[in-house]
Amino acid sequence: MADPLASLRASLAERDRFFELSSDLLCEASTDDGRFLRLNRAWVETLGYPLEDLLGHPFMDFVHPEDRDETARAASALAEGKTIFSFVNRYRHRDGSYRLLSWSSSVDPEILKIYAIARDITAIRQTELRLHHANRMESIGQLAAGVAHEINTPIQFIGDNLRFLEDAFTDLGRALLAYQRLDARAREHAGADAALLAEVTAAVHAADLPFLSAEIPRALAQSRQGVEHITGIVGAMKDFSHPDNDEKKSGDLNLALKMTLTVAHNEYKYVADVVTDFADDLPMIDCHLGELKQVFLNLLVNAAHSIGDVVAGTARRGTITVSTKREPDAVEIRIGDTGTGIPDGVLEHIFEPFFTTKEVGKGTGQGLYLSHAIVTKRHGGQFSVDTKVGSGTTMIIRLPLGNIGA
Ligand SMILES: Nc1ncnc2c1ncn2[C@@H]1O[C@H](COP(=O)(O)OP(=O)(O)OP(=O)(O)O)[C@@H](O)[C@H]1O
Ligand SMILES: [Mg+2]
Repeated sequence: MADPLASLRASLAERDRFFELSSDLLCEASTDDGRFLRLNRAWVETLGYPLEDLLGHPFMDFVHPEDRDETARAASALAEGKTIFSFVNRYRHRDGSYRLLSWSSSVDPEILKIYAIARDITAIRQTELRLHHANRMESIGQLAAGVAHEINTPIQFIGDNLRFLEDAFTDLGRALLAYQRLDARAREHAGADAALLAEVTAAVHAADLPFLSAEIPRALAQSRQGVEHITGIVGAMKDFSHPDNDEKKSGDLNLALKMTLTVAHNEYKYVADVVTDFADDLPMIDCHLGELKQVFLNLLVNAAHSIGDVVAGTARRGTITVSTKREPDAVEIRIGDTGTGIPDGVLEHIFEPFFTTKEVGKGTGQGLYLSHAIVTKRHGGQFSVDTKVGSGTTMIIRLPLGNIGA
């Protein structure tokens, strides 16, 4: 007969072996004061402390001060018997830096122990941010050509107007000079010289003063509008190349959408008209505005591509509809298109990283993955899709008004 003690010892040894081998952080802690009771080697690797600096200390001592309230809330949920998955907080490394840990844990109420597993997601999070940044930079590169094109048109009429002004002032200058000579001569002689008077009349006539006095102000006004247009485009472009820092700032989503429409104009202008419906009462919200503009840009480019697929080879144009709405507890942004629609089989994959149905060079499949992360993870919002094959797609973003700004 097998020795029950021997088999118990064997299974304990097996458990201990796994416990020590895990590269995830495993721990047991007491429910009443949160002291670490047992830890595996991964703690030493990840946080740099020898085990004796951790064992017997409350876990809260190592949590980033800004994350302690959230962590305490998670701990009370645990104490109520809930199991926690993917709870993220920052733990202090021995060198003073912080590591981002993602936790799963539960409590055994009988023996008052917390069992927890944590994974160091610092590197993954950094890679995500880098990818996000790289994607943004790539879009900027692609759009720069389009923006340059946008700038070209107003620059051209400014150039034309300036040339016109130069000619006009040359004529005016000649007339004025003649007047000066007339003035000088008139002061020497009592009467006006008939030949000079004729010259003056001819110069004034050639300069067409009434025409100039009407056209010069108009040309100047147009030039000023052209310059304002350029300033707007360059401002919108510059905004895109500013990486957001980690602080949320109060932002105007209607304005952000308008700017993004300007920047993306070249992407859709051959295939679609834009209809906008911006809510007048949209509150400012605390957000990462640069990132949200990146989301809007991705959605507008997707809409233009999809409409492009439908109208290609025809004289038809599609419609992109952009609207904002205030709801009791959220702000809703919709970007709709009259494109292909998204079939089942594609729809369930669109938020996956690197999923694309576009040919190489047209899409990398990061747009919706990053947009989804920006809306849900960075802003606590929701992202949904309303689509019908043959009719089009509407992307719906809801940002909670909990983020309401000043
Ligand atoms: N408005 C839309 N209409 C139809 N299909 C869409 C629409 N938006 C997204 N899709 C589908 O979802 C896929 C993923 O979109 P996503 O924006 O993530 O990547 P992409 O546009 O292919 O590439 P990237 O945005 O990285 O340049 C697209 O390839 C396309 O098949
Ligand atoms: Mg895209």
